[in-house]
Amino acid sequence: MSSVREIEISEAICGKTSLYSFPSQSATNANTMKLPQCSLSEPILRIRNLSKIYKMPGREESVIALKSINLVESTEFGPIREGEFIIIRGPSGGGKTTLLNMIGTIDTPTEGEIELFGTFISKNSSDSYLSKLRLEHIGFVFQSFNLLATMTAFENVALPMNLLGKLNKKEIRLKVRSLLTKVGLQDRMDHLPSELSGGEQQRVAIARALANSPELLLLDEPTGDLDSRSTVDVMNLLLDINMGKTGERPTTCIMVTHNPELECYADRILYVKDGEFQFQAYNSEKTPLVYEDYVAFLDVNP
Ligand SMILES: Nc1ncnc2c1ncn2[C@@H]1O[C@H](COP(=O)(O)OP(=O)(O)OP(=O)(O)O)[C@@H](O)[C@H]1O
Ligand SMILES: [Mg+2]
Repeated sequence: MSSVREIEISEAICGKTSLYSFPSQSATNANTMKLPQCSLSEPILRIRNLSKIYKMPGREESVIALKSINLVESTEFGPIREGEFIIIRGPSGGGKTTLLNMIGTIDTPTEGEIELFGTFISKNSSDSYLSKLRLEHIGFVFQSFNLLATMTAFENVALPMNLLGKLNKKEIRLKVRSLLTKVGLQDRMDHLPSELSGGEQQRVAIARALANSPELLLLDEPTGDLDSRSTVDVMNLLLDINMGKTGERPTTCIMVTHNPELECYADRILYVKDGEFQFQAYNSEKTPLVYEDYVAFLDVNP
């Protein structure tokens, strides 16, 4: 994988020369370039010496999925900051989902620690502590939507609020309506997932992820099962959510994708390979795709 090629692809679609690799530039050059606004905001996520080793039951061999990785000020890959839109890319099996699951506390590290919103997560953190942290602060969106099949769009979005138990029934009803309206599905509230298109199901999943107003949205290949129209719609919605253009405060986003054309949405792209950060690129201005340009690009570069 060549960093130069990735950057050229994004530029070709966005029509901007805003992406540049870092730290492959010399330190002096990099420091004089305009970094995104988020590079000045508060760090919300630091990772220190994080390793994940999967041991297979009844088998000798183990898989090292993450190799003592760091996201801290003292290393070349700095912490994730409030309001950043991070894209994680890299080859299959490189450790992207493992990393996202560690950050989201779905899985626990073998060694090392994660500092998230000033609290610390390690192999010693209790399940009840982690599930509270997830419910209050983190929203998840997956490639396969993961909606509950027997619940309507409305009921799926209401679920995290019911679990958290902070709002009464009327407040929940109003918030679900507002969220489904923001994702453009005010006319689909009573539909079951099977009565919605893939793009619509993913928008319900995004509304559900936002139900408890999380500070952090984690997305694992959210456009992996979508056609190009829905990909652009979902990405533009995510950028609005990230930048606080949907009426809520800005939401930090960390998104795994295999799609190089989506790099223009990110402040920073982290490339993960063989369980390590390989390099990163900054984008001085995150930019939405224009659907017609994207389709024209895909026609020439299938
Ligand atoms: N539950 C598990 N048990 C054992 N090994 C696992 C488990 N989950 C992941 N692995 C292994 O850890 C490594 C990293 O997997 P991971 O799912 O993080 O990769 P990825 O970068 O997300 O790949 P993809 O792009 O294909 O989704 C792989 O070698 C994988 O086989
Ligand atoms: Mg994965």
